[in-house]
Amino acid sequence: MSVEERLGRWYGEAAGEYRRLTPGSAALFVRGGGVLPGGDTRYSITTKPHPLYFEKGEGPYIWDVDGNRRLDLNNNSTALIHGHAHPEIAAAVSAQAAEGTAWGGHSPIEVEWAQMICGRVPSIERVRFANSGTEANMHMLKVARAFTGRDGVLKLDGAYHGTYDGFEFAAAPGGGLAPSTGGVPSNLSANVLLGRWGDAEGAARMVSDNAERLAAVILTPFRSAGGFAEPPPGFLESLREATAEAGVLLLFDEVISLRLGTGGAQGRYGVVPDMTALGKLIGGGLPVGAFGGRADIMSVTDPMGDMKVALAGTFNANPLTAAAGVAGLRLLTPEVYERIDRLGGRLRSGLAEAVEERRLPLQVEGGGSLVSAAAETGFAAADLLMTGLSLAFANRGVFGFPFLSTSSVMEDHHIDDVLDTAAAVFTDLAAALDS
Ligand SMILES: Cc1ncc(COP(=O)(O)O)c(C=O)c1O
Repeated sequence: MSVEERLGRWYGEAAGEYRRLTPGSAALFVRGGGVLPGGDTRYSITTKPHPLYFEKGEGPYIWDVDGNRRLDLNNNSTALIHGHAHPEIAAAVSAQAAEGTAWGGHSPIEVEWAQMICGRVPSIERVRFANSGTEANMHMLKVARAFTGRDGVLKLDGAYHGTYDGFEFAAAPGGGLAPSTGGVPSNLSANVLLGRWGDAEGAARMVSDNAERLAAVILTPFRSAGGFAEPPPGFLESLREATAEAGVLLLFDEVISLRLGTGGAQGRYGVVPDMTALGKLIGGGLPVGAFGGRADIMSVTDPMGDMKVALAGTFNANPLTAAAGVAGLRLLTPEVYERIDRLGGRLRSGLAEAVEERRLPLQVEGGGSLVSAAAETGFAAADLLMTGLSLAFANRGVFGFPFLSTSSVMEDHHIDDVLDTAAAVFTDLAAALDS
């Protein structure tokens, strides 16, 4: 039997067990399919044979509609740094909801929230709020273009900055650039250059060779797509130097990496960009985005000044998200970062050891509270392997494989549970591969 056939049989068993455990989710998927294309409204969380439908989260756990409790290591794609329904965040949201959720005016809490962000993130002297990380990156690029008077942007191949067509380009199989999704006008690629993660020299050269047309370089300072990874030594520093020399703005997308410390990846690695986009955790679990940077750059959005970029948004800085955001940020002390990092480190090394012991074709990566696993480069049946693993973990009570994050409400015993689950799942997989 080929590897694909052996894996296919193992996958079939995992999918069968998953179906047996989740009939309520399967039924909702069918109902949803009648009104949502493919039952979906967020492609990044859908899965075969059907996604899970949840109805409750509490602390580190999440329950699906069939009553299955799972440890949640997805944490809404890393956003829920305090797990589910944290009492202090829930109280802040309830109190604010009772006073009103949004109005066509400002609120004191928006100022407090902005002060917290400016006080924490080294590059942010002025901040503006939005409703998603996608919007934050989109606005940030507009501001960079207005400030520099140039249109070009250098992004890294494979990097994800949300579903905004200004960034939805990747390397085409035969070389050159291609839209990474349908619906992106191909002529937008005229504004885009592609660099490679870790290729400091190549990116620096592209910056200096294209200085007169580049507004900005954008990257996640901690690799956040296709597997979590810390930046190779010197990579961020080299981009900082090259952009400063060329008068090109350096933009960090820290939508995920604000998890890495009070000052995000820029605080952790000591490289300060000109502007930063945020999202996920700063909303305390509610929809959010924000971007900010040097006061002189951000002044192009100042309606009381020479406003070059007009930015509106009905729900920007709505008091409900602001209340959740402030409550969540207050809970994020240096001790909390230290704790989620320590748990993340245990999870990462425990998973890597379990993979190594069984010589599985998997690679475990990450940093801080973020851990990911991916099929080894070149492994023939990567999709089958990764989908099967995500189902097998879910069947045994762990949700989120292979993009994992720890949260402030997790304890060492939760990590022990994940590692016990991993031992069982990986042993089954190894047996299937050897059979
Ligand atoms: C690095 C990064 N940037 C931007 C985004 C987009 O954020 P949102 O989903 O809130 O639009 C994401 C989402 O996962 C992300 O991981």
